Amino acid sequence: RVAADLAGRHVVVSAGGTREPLDPVRFLGNRSSGKQGYALARTAVARGARVTLVAANTELPDPAGADVVRVTTAHQMREAVLKAAADADAVVMAAAVADFRPAHYAEGKIKKKDGEEPAPLELVRNPDILAELSADRPHPGQVVAGFAAETDDVLANGRAKLARKECDLLVVNEVGERKAFGSEENEAVILGADGEETPVPYGPKEALADVVWDRVARRL
Ligand code: C5P
Repeated sequence: RVAADLAGRHVVVSAGGTREPLDPVRFLGNRSSGKQGYALARTAVARGARVTLVAANTELPDPAGADVVRVTTAHQMREAVLKAAADADAVVMAAAVADFRPAHYAEGKIKKKDGEEPAPLELVRNPDILAELSADRPHPGQVVAGFAAETDDVLANGRAKLARKECDLLVVNEVGERKAFGSEENEAVILGADGEETPVPYGPKEALADVVWDRVARRL
């Protein structure tokens, strides 16, 4: 039996990975499957929350009971998340949002030309949705959480990122063969702005999701 500790709450979860178009047939993307975000949405529904899931480029079935908003790019994700966050008690950004996008979009397919070197790919920064949300909360009690996939100095980088983004919680995981991207399992440490650090052992993404909601629920 699951406690309905999120009953009456509205939570927003982002999932998947954004795609930044180069031309009508190409994009810059990432390996996020969306599974962790979907697990967060399912567990929040089970705990009684009203859930808005902002999903970028996932191939997973809609979680029963959640409102699903589909987006492609980081800009679209920003709009959808900020809109849903207006009356949300908590926002958990599990999506892999592209940090950069191509500076120019070619209306026609980019062609290779014989004997010519390819043009360098120019990139510009995308808005940081998590940092913006944290700095500009629609109401002061809103809980904002992010995810950070790191390959080295996982904890040190995570602590620095938590401080930089000014969110309440940051779920830090090491990108590895059996973990994070595409996998059914994950292993993480949940860092809190209050200094509390919760290690979550290797296990199903649903289990990690429940520990995230435990930490969120305590702050509501
Ligand atoms: O900086 P980094 O991409 O590692 O941060 C990861 C966290 O920040 C994730 O929660 C992700 O959803 C969020 N993020 C964001 N907007 C960006 C980049 C990342 O909200 N442009």
